[in-house]
Amino acid sequence: MKTASTVPAENLGEEPYASILCYPRTSEAELQSRLEELKALGVSAVEFSGKGSAFNVPVLGKGFVGVVVTAHLNRQRIALKIRRVDADRPSLLHEAEMLTKTNGVLVGPRLIGASKNFLLMQLIDGDPLPAWLKTHTEGEEVRKVLADVLEQCWRLDSVGVDHGELSKAPKHLIVDGAGKPWIIDFETASDTRKLANVTAVCQYLFMGGGAVAGAVAEALGERNRSGIIEALRGYKKERTRENFDRVKQVCLG
Ligand SMILES: Nc1ncnc2c1ncn2[C@@H]1O[C@H](COP(=O)(O)OP(=O)(O)OP(=O)(O)O)[C@@H](O)[C@H]1O
Ligand SMILES: [Mg+2]
Repeated sequence: MKTASTVPAENLGEEPYASILCYPRTSEAELQSRLEELKALGVSAVEFSGKGSAFNVPVLGKGFVGVVVTAHLNRQRIALKIRRVDADRPSLLHEAEMLTKTNGVLVGPRLIGASKNFLLMQLIDGDPLPAWLKTHTEGEEVRKVLADVLEQCWRLDSVGVDHGELSKAPKHLIVDGAGKPWIIDFETASDTRKLANVTAVCQYLFMGGGAVAGAVAEALGERNRSGIIEALRGYKKERTRENFDRVKQVCLG
């Protein structure tokens, strides 16, 4: 892997950076238009560093829709999601719209700016939940983080945005250095779909058969599975704070 580097905006047209801006297939026209777009957003530099990689260049992360890197804007370090040229989404503006809504209830990275191919947002410096759980096994600490995750999902339900990918969320929950959990990637979120944030995340954290549910059970002790199912059923039927508190109680109490 190439070493980490910070590249001023005026040099982003050079390889290998051009290939990251237009991942996975560069064309001169696309590159020029993206360089203009980035300039209009005010990005002054991009840092190629992080645990992910694209064409052997270090990045924060890479998914099917975007490549995410650290960028500089007004002397601030932020996260820049670059729409992949082959993404099955025509733009990142839907994600920006969803983030605007969720930011209203203090969920998701703060949206800073957006255009067709780029999304600027708060940089979350932390570990994905599965990795965090490997180094944090103390019951009280785990309980506090998961309580915050559930509260955020309750707020998402309340504001009418369904994240859509919380039932299998190894990459979508990040815990930062201060022990605060963040829900990321609202690209498949919807404000018209049936709301399933609380139920999906409970499924993932407390009832799934994966490593995360295993680590959670290890830290908190075995959960009352049928109690959780029953509480979730009540919550699904009637999305009230009282029913949510019952879910929280049976999952974390
Ligand atoms: N705000 C952020 N701060 C720090 N890292 C981030 C941020 N947003 C995304 N990332 C990193 O980039 C990765 C890819 O981001 P994201 O999940 O939004 O892309 P995606 O293409 O929609 O992914 P997928 O195809 O898995 O849905 C994340 O898993 C995470 O590691
Ligand atoms: Mg995604």
